[in-house]
Amino acid sequence: MSRVAATAVRGTRDVLPPESSSWQWAEGIARRLCAQYHFQEIRTPIFEGLEVFQRGIGETTDIVEKEMYVFQDRSERWLALRPEGTAGVVRAFLEHGLPAGPLPVKFFYLGPMFRYERPQAGRYRQFEQFGVEAFGSESPALDVEIISLGTAFLEALGISGWQVQLNTIGCPVCRPRYRQRLLELLRPRADQLCASCQSRLERNPLRVLDCKEESCRRVTADVPAPEEYLCSECAAHWQAVQEGLRAVGILYQVTPRLVRGLDYYTRTVFELIAPGLGSQDAVLAGGRYDGLVEEMGGPAVPGIGFAAGMDRLLLSLEQGGQGRAAEPELDVFVARAGDVPETAALQVVQELRKQGWRVDQDYLGRSLKAQLKAADRAGAQLTLVLGEAEWAQGQVVVRTMATGEQETVNRAVLTQAVTTRLQRTA
Ligand code: HAM
Repeated sequence: MSRVAATAVRGTRDVLPPESSSWQWAEGIARRLCAQYHFQEIRTPIFEGLEVFQRGIGETTDIVEKEMYVFQDRSERWLALRPEGTAGVVRAFLEHGLPAGPLPVKFFYLGPMFRYERPQAGRYRQFEQFGVEAFGSESPALDVEIISLGTAFLEALGISGWQVQLNTIGCPVCRPRYRQRLLELLRPRADQLCASCQSRLERNPLRVLDCKEESCRRVTADVPAPEEYLCSECAAHWQAVQEGLRAVGILYQVTPRLVRGLDYYTRTVFELIAPGLGSQDAVLAGGRYDGLVEEMGGPAVPGIGFAAGMDRLLLSLEQGGQGRAAEPELDVFVARAGDVPETAALQVVQELRKQGWRVDQDYLGRSLKAQLKAADRAGAQLTLVLGEAEWAQGQVVVRTMATGEQETVNRAVLTQAVTTRLQRTA
C-alpha cells in the first residue's frame, strides 16, 4: 500500500523533541511574564467568518488581499483561518459585551496563525504567535507597558542584540494631511516605484515608506516623517510614550519609515528586530489601534497590542548558539533483569509517578545493559533495577546514573529512598 503523503504541506512543519521542549520553555516564559504584567489568557477559534478579518485587518492589506486561507464550509459560509490574532480577539471582546464591563481588559494568547506567504527561513504558512491585546485606555503608560512586556520577553528568552524601532502614524484627524502630502510627493515619481507600490500608491501611500525595494527607498528618502504632521493630541501622546520609555530605561530608535502592514494602527507602532534573521528580522511587532473596536461595530474603545513570532524567536536563539541546553526530562527509569514479573515494574512505576516523579520503564524486554543505555539516553537520574534474586528477597537496586553508584534498598521503603536521592540531586 502506498503511503498517504510523504511530507508536511509546504510552509508547515513538525516540531519534535528536543525542539518541542524549547517551545514549552518559551511559552512558559510568556505565561509567567503575562501574569506579572496582569494579562489574562484568551483562546479564540482558529477560524472565523471571513468578514472578521476583512473588516479588522483591512481590505487593502497584503494579508487580506492575497495571504489568507479562505474556504467555504459545507453550509457555504465563507470562513478563513486566522492570519493574526487581533481581529478575532476584538470580535470576542465585542461578542461577550466586555466594552460595558470594567476596563481595561488585558488579554494574551498563544497559538497558530496561517498566511499564504512565500516560505523561507523564519517565514512559514503556519506559524505561532504569542500576542497581547489591551483595551480601554488611551494612556501612553499602556503603550510603555506593552513595549516593556515585549522587551522583557526577549530578555527572558536570552535573545541578544535586539532593537526597538518606534514610530507614530497619527490618527484619522492628522493622517489624511500626511497622506495627502505623501501623494503629492510620490505621484510625480510613481514610475520609479516597484510594481506593488505603484498599485498601492493611491490606496495606501504610507505602505510605500516601508517597502524594502531599493528603487522605492530612493524615492522616499527625503519625504517628511509622519511625526511632522501630527495633530496636537497625537503629538502629546508621542512625546509621552517616549518619555515613559526613557523613564523605565527602554532604549528605542525612532524609525520614521515604520508604518506596519495592517490597516488598524493609529499613533504608536513598533517592531522589535533581532539580528541574524536576514529579511525576516521582525520578531515582535504591534501598535495602537484606537479605531478598531468601533470599526468592527462596537463603541469607541481604544486598544493596543503586539504579537511575537515564536518560530522566529526560537530560530534566532538557535542561530546565535544561544539555544537552551536540554534539561533532563526523566527522574527514574525502571529496569527489569531476569524473571521479574511485568506487573512488579508496573506497580513500582505507578507508585513513583503518584509521588510526582517522572518515570519510564522498559517495554521491549531488552538486556540489562541495553536498558541502562536507554536510561542514560533519556537523562534519568536514577535507574531502579528489579533483579530476579533481589526481587525474591523484597529488594531493589537503586543506581545513581551520574556516579554509577548502586545501593540495595528494601521494596517497602523504595519510594522514600528514591525521593531522598532525587531531592539530593535536584
Ligand atoms: P504582524 O507584524 O503581522 O502583526 O506579525 C507579528 C509577528 O508575527 C511578526 O513580527 C513575525 O515575528 C511573526 N510572523 C508574521 N508572519 C509570519 C510568518 N509567515 N512566519 C513566521 N512568523 C511570522 C500582527 O500579527 C498583529 N496582529 C500584531 C498586533 C497585535 N498588533 C496589535 N496587536
